[in-house]
Amino acid sequence: MKRILTGLQPSGELTLGSLIGSIGQMVMYQNEYESFIFVPDMHAITVKQDPKLLKERVIKNVALYIACGLDPSKNVIYIQSENLYHANLSWVLECNTYIGEASRMTQFKDKSKKQDNVTVGLFTYPILMAADILLYDADYVPVGVDQKQHVELARDISERFNKTYGNTFKIPEPLIPEVGAKIMDLSDPTRKMSKSDVTGKGVIYLLDDEKTIRKKIMSAVTDSESKVYYDLVNKPGISNLLTIYSSLKEISIKETEEHFKDCNYGNLKKEVADLVVEKLSIIQEKYNNLINSEELDKILDNGKDVTNVIAKKKLEEVFNKVGLGRY
Ligand code: AMP
Ligand code: TRP
Repeated sequence: MKRILTGLQPSGELTLGSLIGSIGQMVMYQNEYESFIFVPDMHAITVKQDPKLLKERVIKNVALYIACGLDPSKNVIYIQSENLYHANLSWVLECNTYIGEASRMTQFKDKSKKQDNVTVGLFTYPILMAADILLYDADYVPVGVDQKQHVELARDISERFNKTYGNTFKIPEPLIPEVGAKIMDLSDPTRKMSKSDVTGKGVIYLLDDEKTIRKKIMSAVTDSESKVYYDLVNKPGISNLLTIYSSLKEISIKETEEHFKDCNYGNLKKEVADLVVEKLSIIQEKYNNLINSEELDKILDNGKDVTNVIAKKKLEEVFNKVGLGRY
């Protein structure tokens, strides 16, 4: 079985968009691949974080991913900072990466423009990401397009290392998911529903309560026509509600259109809200059972143990090859 590895940033509260867009993909992959999934909390501190909030969010996200269907018996689930080998390998890789290469990363250029105090960590972050991947000989790295360049850097670094020191790392390949459903903001359906949205007015968070979910969906922006059909250009709001319904029901947009063809906007919204409430209440129930449970601790302890054994072996090989240590 081929191995995939990916990191899920703990940068915000997970949304209905994350569920339909990325978690759904991971749940599919778990049956095809041996999956390593971790929370890159060390990446998160490249920008300012509230320490208490960061800790809480990491645990919360892990519990939510599992509640959404990531099966701990099919995935190795772990927290990056509980494995000290990542940062250690990162140092060796930093010493084998050129400033020119690292300076080409477009995400760094974008992010550093938005920040007053840019840290060195933000600059070297793609090299830590290369270490995350190379420690485990991952075949594929599922990421969004914005991360493709980082995986390509990991390829360049590993190819060069192998050439210089002998075969050590598997060369990873990015796995970019086919373009799936894109869920838009309910109050501005021309914008992606995003966990980093400031007001959160048009964003459904996975842990929103029933009343909030209903209120947000019932006040979703639509259009002045009154007929329900899918048209992204002229009816982005209605199309978004149809997309949400079809994704959660796992039926096509055509079938969804047919289902709602005689409905008015109020009825459409009500039915979409019923479905979202139904789906999220199942997830929330699982989440509530998991958070603060011994089971969650066990899952993370297992992830920590399994990955530390693999990573230790790889790092010792690397140290040995570059001439570090006595043996
Ligand atoms: P983000 O949460 O913005 O960092 O995005 C992480 C991944 O989640 C993206 O690569 C998308 O695959 C998915 N995602 C996030 N928001 C949405 C959305 N509104 N609709 C569909 N997919 C999304
Ligand atoms: N940089 C990724 C992001 O922002 C998260 C990440 C860190 C990652 N290390 C990784 C993804 C290793 C895949 C593999 O989303």
